[in-house]
Amino acid sequence: GGVTTLDPGYKNTGSCESAITFLNGEEGILRYRGYSIEELADKASFLEVAFLLIFGELPNQEQLSKFAHDIKEQSVVDDDIKKILDAFPKSAHPMGVLSSLTSALTAFNPSSVNVDSEEAMYKTVVKIMGKFPVLVAWTMRKQKGLPLDYGDNSLGYVENVLKMMFKKPNEEYTQNPILVNALDKLLILHADHEQNCSTSTVRIVGSSHAGLFASLSAGISALWGPLHGGANQAVLEMLEAIKEDGGDTKKFMAKAKDKEDPFRLMGFGHRVYKNFDPRAKIIKKAADEVLADLGVEDPVLDIAKGLAAEALSDDYFVKRKLYPNVDFYSGIIYRSMGIPVEMFTVMFALGRLPGWIAQWREMRLRKEPIGRPRQIYIGETHRPFKEISKR
Ligand code: CMC
Repeated sequence: GGVTTLDPGYKNTGSCESAITFLNGEEGILRYRGYSIEELADKASFLEVAFLLIFGELPNQEQLSKFAHDIKEQSVVDDDIKKILDAFPKSAHPMGVLSSLTSALTAFNPSSVNVDSEEAMYKTVVKIMGKFPVLVAWTMRKQKGLPLDYGDNSLGYVENVLKMMFKKPNEEYTQNPILVNALDKLLILHADHEQNCSTSTVRIVGSSHAGLFASLSAGISALWGPLHGGANQAVLEMLEAIKEDGGDTKKFMAKAKDKEDPFRLMGFGHRVYKNFDPRAKIIKKAADEVLADLGVEDPVLDIAKGLAAEALSDDYFVKRKLYPNVDFYSGIIYRSMGIPVEMFTVMFALGRLPGWIAQWREMRLRKEPIGRPRQIYIGETHRPFKEISKR
């Protein structure tokens, strides 16, 4: 028999049991494996959080060192990947490039699709943890016309990504600890968010037993959209547009409230958080600190703050429980770090990688069935075929 009830957008449909991330949208609580996001952002490193999400426990020093070592051993991508990258125009959106290269990795690492044992699964996991930052850096270097380098294995995970992104030829590269800390924190805040659009995509693609890299590539495509991870780029473009237009936030607020106008206030609202997004709170504070540390004065931050203050006291937004989300302030930090706006969602993907991996791994270990929703058919009933001359 067919189904009789629908839940478009799965607003009230659970797809799995999960022990990874706890989220209470009413109270604004977010915990990874039971640890609060506030504490993790403050005290842990991104690699520790990745280990926690994927394997369930915070690593001890020995486990963390081994994890970091195994990832470094896998941090070279096949040089032929450069040929694929070369074929893209410089104007290509980095998210499209990243998704393509992630999928292409399967061709260069065919053994990665064998995840029948815990050991094989571990190998695949450290492979992608090692190679993904290289792809992230290369998508940016491609756009900027910079030569493609491999990482520096003497550095930590986040330091290494930054160096791969920003190192200029014939120039000494010095780490800026402010940037390292800021990025570490941002990546932790983005690392998992239970069954969001891209994570559900990774789980559903993986549920057909497609390989991890192919599943991740699909997740990256899902993240790209402006209603999801692409919001961080859209927010900054919106704030710039407000600035260009003379800074009249009220005008844009009115547009967002006008039901005839498809414009939405980007970086506002969330499917699950209905009081505040705990990540946005941490990021707002971090944005203030990073900009102060770097001595950057960004008029766009003032526009953002003005807009947020207005929305928070506006009936339309209050009634619909629309609050700034994680993407509202993150772009301001990325921009102050010198990251181009089209790369913002790529940075989100870098942070979300361990979450996607953890969710995929959980799905496979629990031997979940293939994801296959039902529908209610509303098309034509049976019709006789009509010859082309008679149509
Ligand atoms: N600006 C203006 N109105 C909004 C907004 C907004 N940003 N978000 C929701 N609404 C209105 C919407 O029009 C609807 O009004 P009504 O009840 O009168 O029809 C009501 O609020 C409920 O919205 P919805 O679209 O039914 O809610 P949803 O849960 O389907 O969508 C959302 C959630 C995040 C997609 C949506 O709030 C949105 O489009 N926000 C802007 C994009 C954004 O910032 N996305 C990032 C989300 S957080 C990080 C991530 O996922 O990557």
